[in-house]
Amino acid sequence: MDCDCITRINPIIIMNYYNEIAEGYEELHEDEQLAKLNAIKSLLEELKIEISPNHKLLDVGCGSGISTRFWDFTECERIGLDPADKLIEIAQKKDINGQYFVEPAENISLEDKLFDFVTCITAIHNFENLDMGISEIKRVSKNIIIFSILKTVIDFKNIVRKIKTNFQVIKEFEGDKDSILICKKL
Ligand SMILES: C[S@@+](CC[C@H](N)C(=O)[O-])C[C@H]1O[C@@H](n2cnc3c(N)ncnc32)[C@H](O)[C@@H]1O
Repeated sequence: MDCDCITRINPIIIMNYYNEIAEGYEELHEDEQLAKLNAIKSLLEELKIEISPNHKLLDVGCGSGISTRFWDFTECERIGLDPADKLIEIAQKKDINGQYFVEPAENISLEDKLFDFVTCITAIHNFENLDMGISEIKRVSKNIIIFSILKTVIDFKNIVRKIKTNFQVIKEFEGDKDSILICKKL
């Protein structure tokens, strides 16, 4: 299916699901997510894009923070957002250097062009409103935006098309489960 009229799963069902699996989320998904993050790290190195301590990074749909605290080695300022409060609680407990907030992608309470890097790792397919989420990511970003998109989701093609309309894709990478798009703000 490739249209704008995809029926999305009720966000309350998604939230309940993620809150219910919160305690076991990392045991289930950490290795898989770390493989994707290491692929992104290599792509950035290849592109000679460096994340420095003076940079600000926002992770949209950060879950328990695997995809946010991964960047701890860069010493950049890190913020993670996710609507699942139980996951945010875990994320904050595990990462004293990051800041975590319960917020959906569609309504980010942060100022325009604040972030040098915005990441969205295996989360965009969960957005209740794809256009609003993408528009918010665009608004708060200043330079580089990184999407990792699950290839098996029903509206995969539609998601990729919308990303390509809204951002300049500078690198595409096909992983086992996700497509990774490294983008620049247009
Ligand atoms: C597969 S997890 C990925 C979490 C994290 N990025 C990682 O790599 O481990 C998908 C996340 O999307 C979040 N999510 C659901 N609806 C969302 C929305 N409207 N805006 C942002 N994130 C959302 C879920 O709560 C969940 O934490």
